[in-house]
Amino acid sequence: MITVIGAGKVGSAAAFDILRYKISDVVLIDTNEKQAQGEALDMMQAAPAIEFDGKIRGTSNFKEMAGSELVIVTAGLGRRPDMTRFDLMNTNAQIVKSVVKEVVKYAPDCKLMIVSNPVDIMTYISFRETGFPRSRLFGMGNILDTMRFRTYIANELNVSREDTRALVIGEHGDSMVPLVEYASVSGIPVTSLLTSEQIDKIVHLTVTSGADVIQLKGSTVYAPGTVIAITADAILTGRNRVMSVSTCLCGEYGFSGLSIGVPVVLGKEGVEKIIELELSEKTKEQFAKSVAIIKEAIAALKS
Ligand code: 2OP
Repeated sequence: MITVIGAGKVGSAAAFDILRYKISDVVLIDTNEKQAQGEALDMMQAAPAIEFDGKIRGTSNFKEMAGSELVIVTAGLGRRPDMTRFDLMNTNAQIVKSVVKEVVKYAPDCKLMIVSNPVDIMTYISFRETGFPRSRLFGMGNILDTMRFRTYIANELNVSREDTRALVIGEHGDSMVPLVEYASVSGIPVTSLLTSEQIDKIVHLTVTSGADVIQLKGSTVYAPGTVIAITADAILTGRNRVMSVSTCLCGEYGFSGLSIGVPVVLGKEGVEKIIELELSEKTKEQFAKSVAIIKEAIAALKS
């Protein structure tokens, strides 16, 4: 069973995709019980059409998460068009702290996926608050940026999005690092298919992609929702997928004391392995800058 905490737009979209892909039964928890119950009832009424016979229930009772293999935390404020993810930090830190305390109480053996923003900081707070081993806790951020990076590569080349492969590391935010050197189309490096101007344009579009959607419609929904679902699938079905998620570093890439996006093997046990990539000097500098930004934010957190 999967518990999604937060029945807002992203949490509800994720819950519905988890059902639609037949990944798991879902408990949808929100302090606004009617919101959670209404979302669950709406999804249940779609179940015959998506041939899903599993269970979906909405509640405000945190006890209902007991026995969850995976708990997904989407609770917190979303940013407005004029905000960065960091603007949400202190408010969402309080919300996430209170939520993960309930997770420790009712689902102490679960894998914990943090989505609330700024996700790298919220993941690191959760690591400190729960005492979970870092393998059982990660933040969903760069995997979403990676999907956006792949979309823009495919669009620019007018090729199938399925054939693009890429990675984004670093902050799930303005200092993220789309890894051009590791991007390809069916194994063909994008550097041999695109000009440097085209690459620069795609990198810029990737970095601003979340804000671009928020500017137009007020919040991102489908992309985070679906990416949460496929990330959940990697865990529940133990597919050992290689994905870039926010994970707590203990010396990897030469850094410790923060959670940041790096490629990992994501499987039944959670973060099964952190993959340390060979990076160019330029990329190392960009990653180090991202580390510094996240560490500065952690230090600025109101205790
Ligand atoms: C996004 O980039 C919500 O941070 C998430 O869409």
